[in-house]
Amino acid sequence: MTATLKTCPKLQPEDLAIFGKPPAFAEKLHVGRPNVGNRERLLQRISDMLDRNWLTNDGPYVREFEKRLAEFVGVRHCVAMCNATISLEIAIRALGLTGEVIIPSFTFIATAHALQWQEITPIFCDIDPKTHNLDPAQVERMITPRTTGIIGVHTWGRPCDVDALQAIARRRNLQLLFDAAHAIACSYKGKLIGGFGRCEIVSFHATKFFNSFEGGAVLTNDDALAGKMRLMRNFGFSGYDNVIYIGTNGKMTEVCAAMGLTSLESIDHFIATNRRNHHAYRGGLAGIPGITFIVYGERERTNYQYIVLEVDETAAGLTRDELVAVLSAENVLARRYFYPGCHRMEPYHSYFPLASLVLPETEKLCRRVMVLPNGGSVNEPAIASICQVIETAVANAPAVRAALAASAAPQAAK
Ligand SMILES: Cc1ncc(COP(=O)(O)O)c(C=O)c1O
Repeated sequence: MTATLKTCPKLQPEDLAIFGKPPAFAEKLHVGRPNVGNRERLLQRISDMLDRNWLTNDGPYVREFEKRLAEFVGVRHCVAMCNATISLEIAIRALGLTGEVIIPSFTFIATAHALQWQEITPIFCDIDPKTHNLDPAQVERMITPRTTGIIGVHTWGRPCDVDALQAIARRRNLQLLFDAAHAIACSYKGKLIGGFGRCEIVSFHATKFFNSFEGGAVLTNDDALAGKMRLMRNFGFSGYDNVIYIGTNGKMTEVCAAMGLTSLESIDHFIATNRRNHHAYRGGLAGIPGITFIVYGERERTNYQYIVLEVDETAAGLTRDELVAVLSAENVLARRYFYPGCHRMEPYHSYFPLASLVLPETEKLCRRVMVLPNGGSVNEPAIASICQVIETAVANAPAVRAALAASAAPQAAK
């Protein structure tokens, strides 16, 4: 469903909802509204599943989903699981990581928790401000005798510097894996993400452009690793009554796989919608002082899932949080992302109270970055309206700032 636009133009500062005018949108616009593919196809699959009376435990839809996703990405194995967090935990355990593992702090908290849950210490590393991904030079500096691995995160679907990380991992004898939760259908040097490092973890959470309600998977070309993870996601059972590993319940259900298959059939359409929106935002935000729009290079394949801005307060006259508040009043629920950084969340903040000193770029980005709604719930007129709100707010920054201060408008939650 696409957003309902009210006919309230936002050309003058007094038109903005923070000055008491009606919001630009009648309904709240969320960043990650779920994409649903062919509803009839999904319902047919669910009906077939009920007829078969096979709901979980490595069922036919899970197998089909794994096969088709592995073919799509071009990897030997897709081990589907109930979500990406458990997939990360299982991959980390199956690879035998211990001690310390280097990750960016600019990531979703699950990357850190998947380690700490197993009493492995996440070591937060700074990012390259141009790519928002791990800075390989900083990675090198964070290695200690206790380091056993590196988890790169392909943030926004933009690939990490895989070659540089691979070279470090090889030279320092570390395991390398990737949190590719954002990166289905994105490529690095022309090859789809999924086959790099020892393995890559993808997410099909409902807020991702490609969803299976909840879901995740580990993609790998390593036969032994895939086999081990298949057992670990099912309590470590190897056949009836025979447990050979510590395992957990990481299984994907049939209904989730049915949704995943249906999403896969519509993936080109989802990406085309995101791409259209991305170009509309890019045009609409061009030239607004202090607003940097993150573009996806045309050389690589990408899913255009995230509409990412950086707000430079000095040039825009408003902070990122002030802009988020202006948009929120218009029912546009723009999101700060990964704020305030994993290193400032518990328990990590208590463990590493001085971490911010070695994470200057992460600190800066966490204050600047915001994400706008994308997917099927916005169209070109809706995007034009969102861009107009931003343009008007920035053009009238002092008045906007004064109005926000006067009303003490609540800052949008993460
Ligand atoms: C970078 C990153 N890693 C891991 C996850 C966890 O994924 P899931 O919700 O499928 O467990 C997410 C989810 O948003 C994510 O963005």
